[in-house]
Amino acid sequence: MACKVQGSGTGTTSNMRRQSHDKARGARYNWRQFSSSGAKTMGIYYMDGEYVETAEASVPASDLALLRGYGIFDFTRTYGGKPFQLGAHLRRLIRSATLLELDCPWDIEELHDIVMETLRRNEYAESNIRLLVTGGDSPNGFLPAGDSRLLVMVTPVKPMAAHYYESGAAVATVEMSRHLPEIKSINYLPGITAQKQALKLNPESIEAIYRVNGNVVEGTRSNTFIFKGGRWITPADELLLGITRAEVIKLIEAEGQLELRDITLAEYYDADEIVITSTTKEVIPVVQVDDVTIGGGAPGENSKRLMAQWREMTENYAASDGYQ
Ligand SMILES: Cc1ncc(COP(=O)(O)O)c(C=O)c1O
Repeated sequence: MACKVQGSGTGTTSNMRRQSHDKARGARYNWRQFSSSGAKTMGIYYMDGEYVETAEASVPASDLALLRGYGIFDFTRTYGGKPFQLGAHLRRLIRSATLLELDCPWDIEELHDIVMETLRRNEYAESNIRLLVTGGDSPNGFLPAGDSRLLVMVTPVKPMAAHYYESGAAVATVEMSRHLPEIKSINYLPGITAQKQALKLNPESIEAIYRVNGNVVEGTRSNTFIFKGGRWITPADELLLGITRAEVIKLIEAEGQLELRDITLAEYYDADEIVITSTTKEVIPVVQVDDVTIGGGAPGENSKRLMAQWREMTENYAASDGYQ
């Protein structure tokens, strides 16, 4: 028998399978979120011109985002309820669209207003903000026809486990490169594949780190820095220019020198200290890479200093009047 699309059959077995699948999915993804007051509330997303309850936000099956993985996104979070580096994230979103020649008719001001309004309609103490631009519908199901959809998803921030910051994390390196790495594409095929490999290598891996031609480039959802010879070093190109990376570079350069250059795998193994950075992870020290223990297996003084500076900077931002 040829393959059958799950759930399309009328047979009892097929229906039962679909129902149990839906039930399992419902249990895994609880669409109802908790507000800062602890009361249950339905989250609100911006979807293609409207503010809708999360369960109502859907993209048609004909959209190229679904059919071909053609779409872009950007992701930030709030501190003190205010979006962090929103301008930089919106500029990166527009740049991703421009580099992909993906239709993005919204300008920075409109995007900003939609983000602020979506935030206002939700009640979380701290929010994640995901902006997603789809490729839209296409007459031949392949080439875009300038019909992009915009989705803004606001969800509560879930802090990373404290042990990563206190004791450090493990990563595993995986030989893999991303196509057009500066674009924040919705297509995380390399990332998901690499992360699965990393977990097979070490089930404790927080992140797979891409190796390209013998160099360490970035994580599946983070950038990376090493501390060696009294200074921080981070790869310069062929990666996503993380907004956290840019802020960490500013912190480092305020006190000393930073080297922007390729890092070989041998140098990565031999680093005195390593951190990974991202919007979600902020600054996390790495104490194990593959089978190699870094810095005696505990976060080093320089990493701790960077984490403390990051915390201070974000706390100051949270307490300030304006927002970036
Ligand atoms: C491939 C990749 N590199 C780096 C980052 C970190 O970027 P940011 O600091 O802007 O969150 C991400 C974030 O998801 C990513 O997917």
